[in-house]
Amino acid sequence: MLVRRFWATIPDVDTTHEPTPERFQLGSAAAEAYEAQFVPALFAQWVAPLLDLAGVRAGQRVLDVACGTGVVARAAADRTGREADVIGVDLNEAMLAVARRIRPGIGWQASDVTDLPFPGGTFDAVLCQMALMFFPDRHAAMAEIARVVAPGGVAAIAVPASLDDQEAFAPFVELASAQAGPAAAALLSTYFTCGDLDELTRLASAAGLHDVASRTITGRYRFGSIDAAVTTEVESTPLIDRIDTQVYQRIRDGARELWQPFVTPTGALDAPFTAHLVVGRKPR
Ligand SMILES: C[S@@+](CC[C@H](N)C(=O)[O-])C[C@H]1O[C@@H](n2cnc3c(N)ncnc32)[C@H](O)[C@@H]1O
Repeated sequence: MLVRRFWATIPDVDTTHEPTPERFQLGSAAAEAYEAQFVPALFAQWVAPLLDLAGVRAGQRVLDVACGTGVVARAAADRTGREADVIGVDLNEAMLAVARRIRPGIGWQASDVTDLPFPGGTFDAVLCQMALMFFPDRHAAMAEIARVVAPGGVAAIAVPASLDDQEAFAPFVELASAQAGPAAAALLSTYFTCGDLDELTRLASAAGLHDVASRTITGRYRFGSIDAAVTTEVESTPLIDRIDTQVYQRIRDGARELWQPFVTPTGALDAPFTAHLVVGRKPR
């Protein structure tokens, strides 16, 4: 309940429709840390379920929207069997540079989700993992995603569930937001603003997608220690530019206490993190 009350005090929170200034833009060092730390600890686990839900298979043309450092596109290329049939697009050049270095054979392009540089109906599957919440106009973004799906093809998205469903993360967001002030609070709150499954389903339907289906998966937020998790949470995200060293230390101290229930006997952090996956098909 505390989190709910706290939320109510922050503007730009908990809406699918209103603009948010948060676009998760990183510099080169943070993009490298994102790929090295955050992807294996959190983002990689949703990739296989997302590709399964979308039915990605050999011979398909696949687009990864807001691809970041490319974890979804790489796995898609492994399934389709041809890197040349997979494209990743993202706003952020630092993320794209990491993606290009790791897998140069995939087509990596700078693009905003609302202005994709492809003719309508280009892709059998369009995927978007952990990024919808950063799109200022989510209806326009979903419409553009649906536009580039081929008739009979699919669009599939993955997003964090609402903060009310995040047993471990809700108290951390509350702590960090209280310590770090409005700019950090706005960022942390944004992560969870697409987490209402009914709204997500309506968003997909409003974009003209049919047979909308979903999966909710409680995965793991796993790091070698609480400190390692805090370091990644700050240094692999735009938070690094928004807090000073004192605030960083206070967040670290607070996290050591509040995440104690999720520490394993070896000192690792192993906490639940819930995500929604939604897929819809473009009519033939
Ligand atoms: C949390 S990362 C997720 C990256 C990747 N999909 C993954 O699963 O690791 C969010 C990404 O969304 C991108 N992004 C934010 N707004 C965007 C927009 N309007 N168009 C394209 N990409 C955008 C950011 O640059 C960032 O790389």
